[in-house]
Amino acid sequence: MTQTTSSPSLASVPSPEDAAGQENFDRLIAEDSRIEPRDWMPQAYRKSLTRQVSQHAHSEIIGMQPEANWITRAPSLKRKAILMAKVQDEAGHGLYLYSAAETLGTPRDVLNDQLLEGKAKYSSIFNYPARTWADMGAIGWLVDGAAICNQVPLCRASYGPYGRAMVRICKEESFHQRQGWEILFELSHGTPEQKQMAQDAVNRTYGPALQMFGPPDADSPNSQQSMAWKVKRFSNDELRQRFVDMIVPQAEALGLTLPDPDLKWNEERGHYDFGPLDWDEFTDVIKGNGPMNAQRMARRIQAHEEGAWVREAAAAYARRQAEQHVPADTQLIGA
Ligand SMILES: [Fe+2]
Ligand SMILES: [Fe+2]
Repeated sequence: MTQTTSSPSLASVPSPEDAAGQENFDRLIAEDSRIEPRDWMPQAYRKSLTRQVSQHAHSEIIGMQPEANWITRAPSLKRKAILMAKVQDEAGHGLYLYSAAETLGTPRDVLNDQLLEGKAKYSSIFNYPARTWADMGAIGWLVDGAAICNQVPLCRASYGPYGRAMVRICKEESFHQRQGWEILFELSHGTPEQKQMAQDAVNRTYGPALQMFGPPDADSPNSQQSMAWKVKRFSNDELRQRFVDMIVPQAEALGLTLPDPDLKWNEERGHYDFGPLDWDEFTDVIKGNGPMNAQRMARRIQAHEEGAWVREAAAAYARRQAEQHVPADTQLIGA
């Protein structure tokens, strides 16, 4: 947009560059091709994706906390090693996603500040406590399971760096879901107390996991635009239904029940019907009033402050490498 005009009527006329850019953008979207960082893109697309990808990154990083709390209390060395690997994967997911978000033009420290200052959202599911070891099973099976349902279609998101990050993330999420399922399977085939612990964790996680797909379609005004841009491929309700259809037979195989009296197969629809979810609670948790919001944020801020020396050392190292004219990557590979 040129700055030479102040007339409202002329200001709304796109510059030749913008018009050509829009045309190219529309063609790439229509062809189901990819938008790459150097391509022209509408401001609204850039803004919406920056918000989505950074919120996703924040969720991965905050999502480390409920499980990291259980690393020291894992019931065996094997379980501890698996849980550590899983939590470490989530840190990696955060890093890929912050990198993808940065390609849209907002530096990572700005995105991080938005989280630390409470201006950015992350998935509401992580504002619930992980009370027992069985929660590691329920989180893996249901939370990572819902993440997979949500994220597999995102591998085809129109923004290239986001879609490519999702490919690797989804592979790791499927390992996470299996490890969760396996924890629950072992507990549900253990002592009556262990089975009860598994059932209790599933009872507490089921509703919030279904809410991970976002509000009902009628209350999700941004979804339409996101689908038109081919970032989102299915609506919130479609993905939620897909998830319910997936977990009902898995719950049967586990020998556990899902806490919904309305859950039953609908022959006509070819899907499971399920009962209403508590959207008032969802809104309340998103607003910051969930049982763990304050603690999650306090821990995140504390970790950030304690990591200051690492960031300073990395910056000093990069400066020294630049002064010596040695590409930093070469040095790191040789280190
Ligand atoms: Fe993840
Ligand atoms: Fe995961």
